[in-house]
Amino acid sequence: MKSLQNINVPHPFPYQGSKRGIAKFILSHFPSDVRCLYEPFCGSGAVSIAAAAHGLASLFALNDLNIPLIALWGEILENPHGLCDKYERRWLEQHHDRKAYFFKIRDEFNKSHDPDQLLYLLARIVKGSVRYSSEGLFNQSADNRRSGMRPNTMRQNIFGVSALLSKKTKLTALDFREAIKSAKESDLIYMDPPYQGTSFTRDHRYFNGLSYDDFVEALSIMNEKNLSYIISYDGVTGEKIHGKLLPNFLKLKHLHIHAGRSSQATLLGNIQETTESLYLSSSLVQRLANELPSRTRSVKAEQQELAFA
Ligand SMILES: C[S@@+](CC[C@H](N)C(=O)[O-])C[C@H]1O[C@@H](n2cnc3c(N)ncnc32)[C@H](O)[C@@H]1O
Repeated sequence: MKSLQNINVPHPFPYQGSKRGIAKFILSHFPSDVRCLYEPFCGSGAVSIAAAAHGLASLFALNDLNIPLIALWGEILENPHGLCDKYERRWLEQHHDRKAYFFKIRDEFNKSHDPDQLLYLLARIVKGSVRYSSEGLFNQSADNRRSGMRPNTMRQNIFGVSALLSKKTKLTALDFREAIKSAKESDLIYMDPPYQGTSFTRDHRYFNGLSYDDFVEALSIMNEKNLSYIISYDGVTGEKIHGKLLPNFLKLKHLHIHAGRSSQATLLGNIQETTESLYLSSSLVQRLANELPSRTRSVKAEQQELAFA
């Protein structure tokens, strides 16, 4: 496991399920020669942003099935000035009646799918938790105790993310299987699919979803292609396991990350630790093992140089 420097990493918008808090742990399993980092369930892209900040990949491929979300990413990367100006205007306009203003923008967004409006909605919704109705309409409510991120803070974050990722990022809004079709052995794929149990239930936490069996089948195909990948897949809160484990025949290395307290359990008066699962593909494990001799060699060479000095 590599150790990484502490640096301030910007984030573009609040998003429930963002891996911001544990990104550093995930990055510590990155090989040192990643050509392109694919994040096919990107959401707010926390792992890609952190990887760019630490210089751990040359190129990035961000994908999410949610088309307006990817359009918002397009604005962040290509038009940060225009996006931040519109955010600031809305943020200021909302103050005469924040509640009514939120509903007005939400209605407009459901007709237009305008990415600037989506940024305002993401900044105002309860805990950044995106919800859609079965008709595909954005139906989450606002957190009316808060006004949403201040325009100056938003500007700093958006410009920070844009500086890290623009000119080296490809954006797509496809099913994850399509989005990773061009991935090669020298690349790395980080996957954070929707939580099991939420995708096809009445809890429309994320836009669309995928079934466990489809996901496992896609992983088998990725294994045949010797692809290096990392998956965040469900977890454990206290004694409760969320969802099924991934099957042994995929030959994945299963790690556990202690992700801190579960906000859901804390709300219910239960203080419980959440553990998140991280799975590494066997090609990645092999790649990391192959790096060890060269790392040891370079340390030995440095020691020799010191000895001759
Ligand atoms: C758990 S969230 C990812 C959060 C992300 N790691 C972050 O840091 O913000 C899962 C994402 O997968 C997207 N999604 C759901 N089904 C998908 C599919 N079949 N292909 C691609 N993206 C999908 C959802 O829109 C959602 O943004």
